[in-house]
Amino acid sequence: MSKKRKIKHILVTGGCGFIGSNFIHYLFEKSDFRGTVVNVDKLTYAGNPENLHDIALRYGNKRYFYKKTDISDHTSMQGIFEKYPIDTVIHFAAESHVDRSIFGPSDFIQSNILGTFTLLEVVRKAWAGKKHVLFHHISTDEVYGSLGDTGHFQETTAYNPRSPYSASKAASDHLVKAYFHTYSLPITLSNCSNNYGPCQFPEKLIPLLTLNAWKGKPLPIYGDGQNIRDWLYVEDHCSAIWTIIHQGQSGETYNIGGDCEMTNLQVVEKICETLETLYPLKTNLHVKLLKSKIQNYKDLITFVADRPGHDRRYAIDFKKIRTELKWEPRVNFDSGLEKTIQWYLKNEEWINNIISGEYRNWIEKNYRTR
Ligand code: NAD
Ligand code: DAU
Repeated sequence: MSKKRKIKHILVTGGCGFIGSNFIHYLFEKSDFRGTVVNVDKLTYAGNPENLHDIALRYGNKRYFYKKTDISDHTSMQGIFEKYPIDTVIHFAAESHVDRSIFGPSDFIQSNILGTFTLLEVVRKAWAGKKHVLFHHISTDEVYGSLGDTGHFQETTAYNPRSPYSASKAASDHLVKAYFHTYSLPITLSNCSNNYGPCQFPEKLIPLLTLNAWKGKPLPIYGDGQNIRDWLYVEDHCSAIWTIIHQGQSGETYNIGGDCEMTNLQVVEKICETLETLYPLKTNLHVKLLKSKIQNYKDLITFVADRPGHDRRYAIDFKKIRTELKWEPRVNFDSGLEKTIQWYLKNEEWINNIISGEYRNWIEKNYRTR
């Protein structure tokens, strides 16, 4: 294993989103990091500064700095590098939801491709001649396409993105690699599987269906529910990133996964079983108020029209990070899901705040007829 890089000043992009905010919490609360963090986020519907309220109170303007900025704004991003002695960039900022990319790809092209391009240009110039710097790009297993019943994605698997979201992430991955080869920009990449945990926007499978079940609403499962994803608790993703930025080899890609393949139907059944254990249906006031006749949370499961181009199976081979960098996922699905469900049911104000406004309008416009 190579010597650990020294990291003092980190720029996090998209730090107000799900994984970015969990990562900033990880830095301040679960790691031995003693430096500063600058968080740049444009605050789309998915970005919520409330996720970092406690960090801002404790470390604001001392070790934690926040700036509302679009990564596509060259001048503003350049200003960040002039003001702060950034040595490490961790690039999370992106449009992240596949369904949204199907309804309207343009924001995905703008933020994920052009935004990454702008950021790379700023970084390349700001870091000209500098040593001991690193640009870490956060990407997804979806760039590899869809698997059949067997096999796993490896770092060498050919790219085959099939949704506007994954195509935009693939394009950004290629740009990052091109800057390494062409301009010698020190970079690492990670391609991770499906994350779950606190602060995930409730449009994604686990939080959406948890909240629907809790409220006695239908649980929409696309197609036959047999599509497979490989689930990873968000804190394990954070520890993997922390490991890579210290010990990863410049120019290398690392796959990150949870060794936790499940069909969507299995995931939803698990959500129902966990809810029943924590909050039995017969004591659930939301369901009582609906005068619903359901006997079991699972009775809410509703099969709906499939997602267009729905990838069938993802499975990650993460042997490289496991053997070369000694990283392992630590949280098993049952305990991660229980923590996640408890978090959502205790944070109703967070949910109401984040799904008000723009998101409600979007749902009205795009889902009313589904
Ligand atoms: P998210 O949608 O919860 O958060 C994205 C954040 O980026 C938001 O705070 C948003 O305001 C910000 N943002 C978007 N466009 C921006 C722009 N142009 N300028 C500045 N900020 C902008 O997403 P997430 O689930 O936290 O995903 C973070 C990253 O991880 C993404 O790059 C995503 O592709 C990748 N990823 C996600 C998963 C997953 O399961 N969620 C898995 C693998 C990889
Ligand atoms: O694999 C990594 C990717 O995981 C990330 O790159 C993305 O940013 C992240 O959003 C996630 O993408 P998915 O499309 O896999 O996540 P989502 O939660 O939207 O869906 C998970 C699975 O559940 C997928 O097969 C579609 C299905 N699904 C989803 C929703 C929202 C349903 O059956 N019903 C639903 O209502």
